[in-house]
Amino acid sequence: MQSKTQQSSFGKLADDTAVHLYTLTNSTGLVAKITNYGTIITELHVPDRHGKPGDIVLGFDNLDQYLKGHPYFGCTVGRVANRIAKGKFTLDGKTYSLAVNNGPSHLHGGLKGFDKVLWKAEPQAGAAIKFTFTSSDGEEGYPGALTVTVVMTLTDANELRIDYSAHTDKPTPINLTNHSYFNLAGAGDVLGHEFMLAADRFTASDANLIPTGEIKPVKGTAMDFTSPTPIGSRFSQLKSDPIGYDDNFVLNNGGKSLALGARVFEPASGRVMEVHTTQPGIQLYTGNFLDGTLTGKHGVVYRQHSGFCLETQHFPDSVNQPTFPSIILRPGQAYRQTTAFKFSTQ
Ligand code: BGC
Repeated sequence: MQSKTQQSSFGKLADDTAVHLYTLTNSTGLVAKITNYGTIITELHVPDRHGKPGDIVLGFDNLDQYLKGHPYFGCTVGRVANRIAKGKFTLDGKTYSLAVNNGPSHLHGGLKGFDKVLWKAEPQAGAAIKFTFTSSDGEEGYPGALTVTVVMTLTDANELRIDYSAHTDKPTPINLTNHSYFNLAGAGDVLGHEFMLAADRFTASDANLIPTGEIKPVKGTAMDFTSPTPIGSRFSQLKSDPIGYDDNFVLNNGGKSLALGARVFEPASGRVMEVHTTQPGIQLYTGNFLDGTLTGKHGVVYRQHSGFCLETQHFPDSVNQPTFPSIILRPGQAYRQTTAFKFSTQ
């Protein structure tokens, strides 16, 4: 089978602008559907251990439902993923105020982040699509015009590879991630999925999920995923409300090169997903806030823990934590990050 990228219509925005859906098929038959609205991965079809394909991401089958609002299904999150305390930061002596859209914090780029904009799409050779968006100076309170490119490729090694790049005309924070919710069983909850995280440490956070600045060892805690563990097996030890993981892990490789950050195995289907990344951190989020009010593809109701996210990233609130790796991009510098989700069976 020849890998390919096909374009189709995915509806219209309120102002009548046409939105497209791109279907990427690799040589082994993996299929990803991605729209240029928010660069949302709407479907991802991966075979189980018997070779039977199943859709392993949460989402909707039409644009209107995405436009009505959702908890960041499948999208690129930016300009800065995760939380910024009080929506404030100081850069080169100037204080910036951002939207406070999550309790007392700024979350995932603000009121209209990169998940809610239309990106320019250019299909590439094989199974690949290049998305480009320029966020204007001052957009959502952030300084500088920032041009972002996201290339998504379905490789013949059965990876969904995402290459991010960006440049700016003024110093600005940037922390891009993909917010896909996975369910390797294709349905039900994810509590029996076995997780391995290549992280000996995590960033401790307060009740608002803002890092305290402390980096703690996972050893001896419910955060220890250094050997494969069912994700739901230690929920009773967590203090979170709603229950589940919503934590940033410090990857052992430290963001130096593309390295294994996580491996997830779903025993019933045999599906395995490895996450390789150049980023120093990964947010494990177990869909704690899903509450049965959204109905997704094929009429499936999304309940608490129906999906999990592994958001490769710099640490939350890095702009206010001088000891965390910096997320400031300056003019003349090139931002580059890669994350690859690699699929197999066992
Ligand atoms: C955050 C969660 C948040 C979710 C939004 C995750 O990245 O860590 O706290 O509720 O995104 O859907």
